[in-house]
Amino acid sequence: MAYTDSIRLLVAEDVPQVSQHVRNLLSVQSQVKLLEVLNDGAKVVEVAKQLRPDVVMVDLLLQGKVKGPQLIEKLRDSGLEIPVVVLTVPQHPLARDPNRGIDAVLTLPFSGFELVNTLSHVLADRQARATGACRVVSVFSPKGGVGKTTIAFNLAVALGQMGVATALIDGSLQYGDLRALLKVPSDVPSILDLPTDRVQESDLREVMWRDPAGIDILLAPPRVEMAEMVTARDVEKTISLLRRLYEAIVIDTPTTLSEVTLALLDGSDLVLSIVTYDSTTIHNTIAVGEVFSSIGYTPEKLQYLVNRSDSSGGIGRDELARTLGRRPEFEVVSDGRLVVQANNEGMPFVVSSPDAAVSRDVRRAAQAIMGRTANSPVRN
Ligand SMILES: Nc1ncnc2c1ncn2[C@@H]1O[C@H](COP(=O)(O)OP(=O)(O)OP(=O)(O)O)[C@@H](O)[C@H]1O
Ligand SMILES: [Mg+2]
Repeated sequence: MAYTDSIRLLVAEDVPQVSQHVRNLLSVQSQVKLLEVLNDGAKVVEVAKQLRPDVVMVDLLLQGKVKGPQLIEKLRDSGLEIPVVVLTVPQHPLARDPNRGIDAVLTLPFSGFELVNTLSHVLADRQARATGACRVVSVFSPKGGVGKTTIAFNLAVALGQMGVATALIDGSLQYGDLRALLKVPSDVPSILDLPTDRVQESDLREVMWRDPAGIDILLAPPRVEMAEMVTARDVEKTISLLRRLYEAIVIDTPTTLSEVTLALLDGSDLVLSIVTYDSTTIHNTIAVGEVFSSIGYTPEKLQYLVNRSDSSGGIGRDELARTLGRRPEFEVVSDGRLVVQANNEGMPFVVSSPDAAVSRDVRRAAQAIMGRTANSPVRN
């Protein structure tokens, strides 16, 4: 699967050197298509109405009849709903403020990588908010083996049990953990089998694996080397398509923060970061938390789930909260016997042992995620 459509960008810039800089950066890549550079702020809204770009970039210091700040306001009030990236210089710092129409800020000088990243991040974020009916939750951790796949699978099934139409995406593309967990034959379709363009709902349904527990699963490719064939753009597109068909999407993610992983997280409303009472896991979680906040993830978007929460290994609950800077939103207890056996049988424990503490914990998280209970899952 290779989606060809790139991000269509309109730029409002009246300094020739800066326009040239942006042109140069964009000339060596294909993810962003530069539609036009306008040096007159007064024309931008009208041209945007005609060209319908995916993103507009505005120089804060734009001069003329309609200056940078006015243009940002006009675009916000135009009803066009096009995200705006504001370009500035270090002497005029500016904070991101979506309510004021500033979806992201780029400070000169920036690299092509930063430019493309910011544009795709802003677009994914806007799409996530525009289709508010579906909840997309990524289960992530910067440390392997903490229980991401186990939690993602059981969380998705718990959502299904609540009557929520749920899809589970196996985003651990290289190893396809869910394929192994569920013992799915290798000829069952994967994310790679989605047609390139104009995917219909029926196409999607044919590609999804229907688990006996009642959820639909989009599997990872059957072989390790095939993971490379899935691009960040494919992932964005897939999420936005699935959003139309399901009320909740749960994504099992890999540990590495690759471009594709970031696309999965960007496209999510909630990133559930799995922590355990293990000092390297906590260390990595804090490090990656800093990355998330620097790319604009809000504290509501990033939430913590402590897995095996009763195996504290000498680290206190308060100490963990202090280190993370807040109390984790969710806890799931340890149950070695049940969890390992359920996983080996490819069975969600929320189905096989609904009354076990571990199942109750996962259900509590599922309910809070759908806003069905007060979000106060942590026992004292
Ligand atoms: N709450 C729990 N209680 C007991 N065992 C658990 C619990 N959660 C996960 N495990 C066990 O921990 C192991 C790792 O779990 P899992 O494969 O879900 O982790 P992961 O984060 O997806 O790993 P990877 O990084 O390899 O993808 C499994 O053997 C699983 O059964
Ligand atoms: Mg896994």
